[in-house]
Amino acid sequence: MSAEYERTTNASRALFKRANRVFAGGINHNARFYEPYPLFVSKAKGQHIWDEDGHRYTDYWMGHMALILGHSPKPVVDALRRQVANGTHYGMGSELSVELGEEIQKSVPCAELSRLCNTGAEATMYLIRLARGYTGRRVVIKMAGGWHGYNTELNKGVHRPFDRAESAGILEGEQTFVKTVRFNDLEGAEKAVKETGGDSAVIFLEPVLGAGGCIPADVEYLKGLRELADRTGTLLAFDEIITGFRVALGGAQERYGVTPDLASFGKIAGGGLPLGLVTGRKEILGLADPTRKEKFVSIGGGTFSENPLSMAAGLATVRHLRKNAGSIYPSLDRAGAGLRKEVDKEFRERGVEAHTTGLGSLFLTHFGAEPTSAEEESKEDKPMQKKYALSLMPNGIFLLPGHPGAISTVHTVRDIGFLVSESGDFAESAGSKGTAKTRPN
Ligand SMILES: Cc1ncc(COP(=O)(O)O)c(C=O)c1O
Repeated sequence: MSAEYERTTNASRALFKRANRVFAGGINHNARFYEPYPLFVSKAKGQHIWDEDGHRYTDYWMGHMALILGHSPKPVVDALRRQVANGTHYGMGSELSVELGEEIQKSVPCAELSRLCNTGAEATMYLIRLARGYTGRRVVIKMAGGWHGYNTELNKGVHRPFDRAESAGILEGEQTFVKTVRFNDLEGAEKAVKETGGDSAVIFLEPVLGAGGCIPADVEYLKGLRELADRTGTLLAFDEIITGFRVALGGAQERYGVTPDLASFGKIAGGGLPLGLVTGRKEILGLADPTRKEKFVSIGGGTFSENPLSMAAGLATVRHLRKNAGSIYPSLDRAGAGLRKEVDKEFRERGVEAHTTGLGSLFLTHFGAEPTSAEEESKEDKPMQKKYALSLMPNGIFLLPGHPGAISTVHTVRDIGFLVSESGDFAESAGSKGTAKTRPN
């Protein structure tokens, strides 16, 4: 598989070599590295990206799942064109940022007040500060496999063994008050809250575990967490950086019908430009008001917060989604459900045990039993998952190996049909070579 990839990607290989001389590991986000070397992109439009050798791919990575309308959609391009002529950075508020805040308030159930920043990592860092400031408690309960960006405290328990710092250079003391529990396990969460002895500030989770395997929460689990939080004076917070504006206009909280106290957003809300935001109940977010005399929670925004380019792109995207929500989300749901079902069928028919998890337009194919937590997901056949993605690339389909895929509004039935049939071809060769785990007859 790798030989074919290497045969068709000479320019990417050469650029990776150059990149290694200027960037650690040749990359600028760890998730973007895969073996033998990552593709380097020369341009993108609609559902497509082109690599530096000029090959076109149907892209399902979609800029870390941020591009729900595809690459360079017209409403965003038009808004950016207009905005560039009027300034790229004010370092001050504008009507645009107020309008984006209003759109978010109208769309997201928990969004009474928000604070804008530039990345998801910042948003999640501010979220836990607000939770602690409001409750006066210390412990953050997060999920094994839960990814919330590179902020120091939450960089814990993302990978096996799920209870350690993810990095050298993080002091033990910096994560003392972050506890990791199993996803989709209400009893585990109950136990963790109890063990804090009244010191649990917030239960913080992605309603669809993203980096931990694209695994949706059970609805009863989320309802149970809401009840647990209320009963114990703990806050419930959702990291909706992937699910926000993707699994429903109002995110997973709308789709599941469970409203958290706080939530972090990013990705789609910035319309393809950098954006993060923390939102939630007025009495909690209100603590960030700098005129407060007591209990003031100092959170940032940063030099580039509410920069008018991100505002314009985010506003154009969110407005388009809100105006067309009635058709966009059912159609994305149908596409995602169809893809998951058909891909699994291709593998099943060839005796390869594979399960595609996800919700709405999100999907990830696993090789092994269907996972319901990151612990289970970590036992899957990962080399096979990477091989699968790498085998699709020379045929013009891009899935970032080991990461979820995301369907946009511009992916066609034909695109998805092609992914399904190419999966069948891969299953054929994987099954016949006996490299995949095959089901007993
Ligand atoms: C669920 C989740 N939270 C937080 C983040 C961090 O966002 P950013 O990369 O913008 O810092 C990500 C990024 O992939 C994410 O998927």
